[in-house]
Amino acid sequence: MKERPDIGRPPAADACQALAWSDAMLLGHGPIDAAHQEFVEVVNALAHCSPDTAAACLQDLEAHIHSHFATEKAWMEKTDFPAAECHIDEHERVIDAVQKVNAKLCLGELGLADVRRLAQALADWFPAHAAYMDSALSAWINKKTYGGAPVVLRRDMRADQRHAEVGA
Ligand SMILES: [Fe+2]
Ligand SMILES: [Fe+2]
Repeated sequence: MKERPDIGRPPAADACQALAWSDAMLLGHGPIDAAHQEFVEVVNALAHCSPDTAAACLQDLEAHIHSHFATEKAWMEKTDFPAAECHIDEHERVIDAVQKVNAKLCLGELGLADVRRLAQALADWFPAHAAYMDSALSAWINKKTYGGAPVVLRRDMRADQRHAEVGA
């Protein structure tokens, strides 16, 4: 990685709003939930990378999203998920963005601030994608596999969160 003016500078205090894993993010399908927990880990690693670790963190992220999105695509195909196209399109846009940043980082055209901006963009993107697209996929898989919605046991959730979820 070439020297860039922003490399080595400490990030601003609000440089990345953390994406923290909690049971509130569980969707009730083991392989998807495992991929999501790993997604949170690799995005956080990228958000807190240093000039020395940026390239490796970005490569880990790229490898992760290929595996994560391939897992979901395989389940869509296996269960004839009806909304597969727009879900896969969104995955493709994320892969494209990550690959572009990775390629430019390797060429020395981007620096640490750009990498952290990507981490923030992914942290901003993920909750809605998981809540709508991945949640719908998880519900579909469970319905096709077991004939109903999953029972998800979530630890350490406040009572008001639980009430909000069930619409009480
Ligand atoms: Fe996902
Ligand atoms: Fe997805």
